[in-house]
Amino acid sequence: MTREAGNGHTAGDTPRVVLGVSGGIAAYKACELLRRLTESGHDVTVVPTDSALHFVGEATWSALSGNPVSTRVWDDVHEVPHVRIGQHADLVVVAPATADLLARAAHGLADDLLTNTLLTARCPVVFAPAMHTEMWEHAATQENVATLRRRGAVVIEPAVGRLTGVDTGKGRLPDPAEIFEVCRRVMARGTLPRDLEGRHVVVSAGGTREPLDPVRYLGNRSSGKQGYALARTAVARGARVTLVAANTALADPAGADVVPVGTAAQLREAVLKAAGDADVVVMAAAVADFRPAAYAAAKIKKKDDEEPPPLALARNTDILAELSADRPRPGQLVVGFAAETDDVLAHGRAKLARKGCDLLVVNEVGENTAFGREDNEAVVLGADGSETAVPFGPKEALADTVWDLVAARLPGRAERNSTDRG
Ligand code: CTP
Repeated sequence: MTREAGNGHTAGDTPRVVLGVSGGIAAYKACELLRRLTESGHDVTVVPTDSALHFVGEATWSALSGNPVSTRVWDDVHEVPHVRIGQHADLVVVAPATADLLARAAHGLADDLLTNTLLTARCPVVFAPAMHTEMWEHAATQENVATLRRRGAVVIEPAVGRLTGVDTGKGRLPDPAEIFEVCRRVMARGTLPRDLEGRHVVVSAGGTREPLDPVRYLGNRSSGKQGYALARTAVARGARVTLVAANTALADPAGADVVPVGTAAQLREAVLKAAGDADVVVMAAAVADFRPAAYAAAKIKKKDDEEPPPLALARNTDILAELSADRPRPGQLVVGFAAETDDVLAHGRAKLARKGCDLLVVNEVGENTAFGREDNEAVVLGADGSETAVPFGPKEALADTVWDLVAARLPGRAERNSTDRG
């Protein structure tokens, strides 16, 4: 059955999303996901399990979605045959997905409307698990997750943090904004490959600050959003991710190890340490080229009768060039970013050659572009002469293109092992 025939509508119609909600305290966060989905133009049918309704009632789901809500296979059989909900969907997202729901989905049970929907859906399916750490780590859950992923479903890694009550650990439902972003990517691409499974990637993000005295620094306007998008998308594609974050104010991406740093020297130390066993290093951080030559231990005071003191600068190491010239691991790929204000491609090509990296993501910046924004547009230049244009769109889309290009260039495992030995 083709998608058009199965859905009964053609591309261009409002995309139809089924939001499955299973019974966990995080069900209330699905309201925020639902709001994001409807506000961005999706027609959402909410299918809560019976136990989900203990946490958030039917009236809330139906008011927020603008659609009727049913939980049982035998509700409204004449109007909404249960098989049609799954067949008509362009995406099914289950958030939160409890250990029990994952188990039932993995085993193909069909004992309520949500599991029936999962069996009849032929569109991409996303699960956003939430449960206690022990339940997530249990071999049964891990095998169920592996089964679902093998069949093509996207299972998002849970976040680490406060769980119900005083417990903390891995098992928290990722931020609704993050789940929404995954849904958007899955709908755009059909699925998310797990082509970085078993790989360690290091991403630097944010902007360094070079202290002048205890209260002042030289800094830049980088928000870190592009680096965080790279980290999030790499986690989703199966990588182990180390995110070296310089002065960012963003929520930790679920599943990434975050190493906070302040200065260029600290960022260099953290990146080189993590790069030792990394398959890829992506330098998305805006690293200061210069630092104040001297640090004043006490606050610099102005003197009315004197000229302002000159600001002497010292050069920071170019981490990207250093990593590219002397790869900590044989076969390692190195990716750089270049923010340019004019003559973008020419400067980008020259920079790629100068830095010696494998890929350089070049984007144009100015007063109102790129920095701090949600969207980005860029060209990715390859040392092999390739040139990939990435149209204006979410930073996640640019991140996915970077990972596509990286995955295509990574040495195969056998090849890598022989390089390691040799
Ligand atoms: N970079 C780095 N170490 C530095 C400066 C920059 O690793 N000390 C990296 C950035 O993370 C980015 C790339 O180099 O990936 C490009 O940075 P950019 O500042 O645009 O390049 P520069 O070499 O500083 O060139 P320009 O003369 O345009 O400032």
